[in-house]
Amino acid sequence: SPSDPDLVERARAAKEKLGDKVFVLGHHYQRDEVIQFADVTGDSFKLARDAAARPQAEYIVFCGVHFMAESADILTGDDQKVVLPDLAAGCSMADMATAEQVAECWDVLTEAGIAEQVVPVSYMNSSADIKAFTGKHGGTICTSSNAKRALDWAFEQGEKVLFLPDQHLGRNTAVRDMGMSLEDCVVYNPHRPNGGLTPEELRAAKMILWRGHCSVHGRFSLDSVNDVRERIPGVNVLVHPECKHEVVAAADYVGSTEYIIKALEAAPAGSKWAIGTELNLVRRLANRFAPEGKEIVFLDKTVCFCSTMNRIDLPHLVWALESLAEGTLVNRIEVDKETEAFAKLALERMLALP
Ligand code: 13P
Ligand code: SF4
Repeated sequence: SPSDPDLVERARAAKEKLGDKVFVLGHHYQRDEVIQFADVTGDSFKLARDAAARPQAEYIVFCGVHFMAESADILTGDDQKVVLPDLAAGCSMADMATAEQVAECWDVLTEAGIAEQVVPVSYMNSSADIKAFTGKHGGTICTSSNAKRALDWAFEQGEKVLFLPDQHLGRNTAVRDMGMSLEDCVVYNPHRPNGGLTPEELRAAKMILWRGHCSVHGRFSLDSVNDVRERIPGVNVLVHPECKHEVVAAADYVGSTEYIIKALEAAPAGSKWAIGTELNLVRRLANRFAPEGKEIVFLDKTVCFCSTMNRIDLPHLVWALESLAEGTLVNRIEVDKETEAFAKLALERMLALP
């Protein structure tokens, strides 16, 4: 999208004034007008590491969503301040698992007599509270690029996994990458008594999947895959593992945003691709690779942007950078010390995965 030249100049000037004091991180789903000011771009795993690798930056401006800014705060030093340009940039998936609901779930598992065998594995897309719960109960965090390694590790620690909060990433990884069957998985619904499961069902399951999903990726359907194959003969279908299992099962390739970018970089000229992930990224990739003769289309035209990712726009970024340049700290994301300690434990287990 074209960006206002005046705002572009103001963002540039504020960034220049701040110099090394500011480090701007941009998730791949951010708007073009914002991504142009990112010092690094990446998926949530890469950005978590990049934030931690910049101790000299006093301000980390996180162009992404709330849980990512929390993770950056947890992994960076106390003297580093993480700023989210719009505090309303949340994530509907992360909001699907609250601390109270997860504590209640643990009680249900305890009553079924299985809590001791269960290792929690939480997707990066979760609040700091959920990460802390995970750390406290001996579990790890994972992202879409290391979910299999996280599950391999978890099944070395215990017999069962409680996977939070994205049922699709959990199911897809278990079935596609770990050779489990759909029957090995049950879905825990936090809105039903006992998660809607009997103690017998819980005892028989290997994967207990939290009933959460991404409101963007959850909308791609098997019809979208079938339609695009009909429309574009020879198309390669490449989707994010937050998509439903039937979509992932029908796709040719599955991977995180970083994986998607690398696959397209390596693709030969003349190849055709339908991509099932957020629209800002797909559009950017389509424009970037068109001159190389790679045809890239969005998997389903009825699916739209991630509305919360899109809340970070150039006016908000300019406001945050100019405030910082004037010495006013705005929109700081700060996780309390106790939550941080346990969440960090879980994040560090992830960073230590082989
Ligand atoms: P990744 O960046 O880990 O692929 O996650 C996708 C996503 O939905 C982030 O909100
Ligand atoms: Fe959350 Fe989905 Fe948006 Fe990512 S794309 S921030 S998982 S709602």
